[in-house]
Amino acid sequence: MNIAVLSDLHLDMNSNFVGEDLLPILIETFVEKQPDLIVIAGDLSDHVTSTITMLDEIEKHVKVKILFIPGNHDIWVRNNESSWDSYKMFEKHPSSIINKPFVVNNEYVIIGDMGWFDYSLAAESSSMYEILSEKEDWGDHKYTNWNMDDGELNQVMLNQLEEQLRLNKDKEVIFVTHFVPYKEYVIRSNEYMNWDVYNAFMGSVRMGELINRYANIKYAIFGHTHERYPLYKDEQKTIICNPLGYIGERNVETFKQELEKSITIINI
Ligand SMILES: [Fe+2]
Repeated sequence: MNIAVLSDLHLDMNSNFVGEDLLPILIETFVEKQPDLIVIAGDLSDHVTSTITMLDEIEKHVKVKILFIPGNHDIWVRNNESSWDSYKMFEKHPSSIINKPFVVNNEYVIIGDMGWFDYSLAAESSSMYEILSEKEDWGDHKYTNWNMDDGELNQVMLNQLEEQLRLNKDKEVIFVTHFVPYKEYVIRSNEYMNWDVYNAFMGSVRMGELINRYANIKYAIFGHTHERYPLYKDEQKTIICNPLGYIGERNVETFKQELEKSITIINI
């Protein structure tokens, strides 16, 4: 069975950047590749309504089961909307694996959730004052509304995922989150961005510790960072962090070529 894995398609922003609706190109690519299952690890667009429309369109035309967990952009809200309402809409959608693992076969189950951040990926040199001041301008602060602090939300995600892992100890697990679980997958500050501080908002080392506690996790998939990393295998698992990201960030010839580079196929 071939499972196509991808993340951070940002179809709305990328379509605006290219000046063309990129959804038909995504659909055409899936039709050509003919995977048996598609897993999208978040950030299809900047709002729940558009992301769900895209998911429905993809499934209608490709006729392959899609599994989806939201990324931070998918749950961004406008005006007084609640991010919990968006999250619950995703949870109810047929593509969701939130609190509802997808059994692939007798051997494998796919467990996943969005995750969040708890500042644990920031460089040790970053003070809480710096982190909280930079957060004022960070999109996930300006465009989300959870009514709880970041550490609490991250803990909700950890608890939900651990519950599913406990219930599926007898299976091999493909584990999917949007946010980054390992410090090896964040970039350090450069001349353009103060990443040492911004990494506070990239994910949580506690998610990585959770993954490492369960030896039956055979694949760990995530995105959120727009940096692509080669497939990494340790004695326990394979780590896949191969996001598409913003076309404007890359020197690309066509969207389709870039899309193909960002699709990882898991063969189980
Ligand atoms: Fe993201």
